[in-house]
Amino acid sequence: MSNKPRILAFAGSLREKSYNKRVLKTAIRGAEEAGAEVTCVDLKDYPMPIYNSDLQDTQGFPPIAVAFQKLLLDHDGLLIASPEYNGSLPAVLKNAIDWASRANGDIKPGECFKGKCAAIMTASPGGFGGLRCLGHLSDVLTVLLVNVLPSQIAVAKVGGMFDGDSGEMTNDTMKKILEDLGASLSDMLRKTHGDIEVVKSATSNVSRSQTTKENQ
Ligand code: FNR
Repeated sequence: MSNKPRILAFAGSLREKSYNKRVLKTAIRGAEEAGAEVTCVDLKDYPMPIYNSDLQDTQGFPPIAVAFQKLLLDHDGLLIASPEYNGSLPAVLKNAIDWASRANGDIKPGECFKGKCAAIMTASPGGFGGLRCLGHLSDVLTVLLVNVLPSQIAVAKVGGMFDGDSGEMTNDTMKKILEDLGASLSDMLRKTHGDIEVVKSATSNVSRSQTTKENQ
């Protein structure tokens, strides 16, 4: 079985040409280059009804919400890029998190999130880059016992950072920042999986030397 950290990546936007989807791709590349296995999904393919526990009681858990729960359970880390809507996270993202947080059959409340690591980012054409949504998203994930990495990136004035509708960032500085964010999530997951020797000895500095399970 692969020893790579498994990361689930998604954006909080359904829009085809979403800046957040494009920014997410750059962070994904960083995570993959750092050795993670990334599954990127589009929440458009997980159209969940607005959460209402009556639905759950009368019709059972929506199959699409079950599929999203299973996806979360299959991964160790989360890479999320979300737009800021009116100073907070968009309803579609909060709704998906709310469904996935509920108990369902053998799945306990919060089980799909507990103990995972997450790296979060936001992008906006505005000057603050959607900064206010990061705190809200971080709070929601923390309540669900997700370890949110302290580096969180807000990409301001994102409209000028791509060549038209292309997926490739033209701003090399921001590209590197986002790739580093993805890589730091991969590194953190390796550490929590015991796949990186953090401290070699009591006197050594922090070491990023890899000690894969094969050569241990
Ligand atoms: C926005 N937008 C926005 N931008 C921002 O920086 N702060 C905000 O509070 C809001 N609020 C807001 C509310 C609603 C309902 C919409 C539709 C939009 C603008 C937003 O950043 C912009 O549309 C982005 O392009 C959305 O991200 P995607 O879809 O490109 O990833």
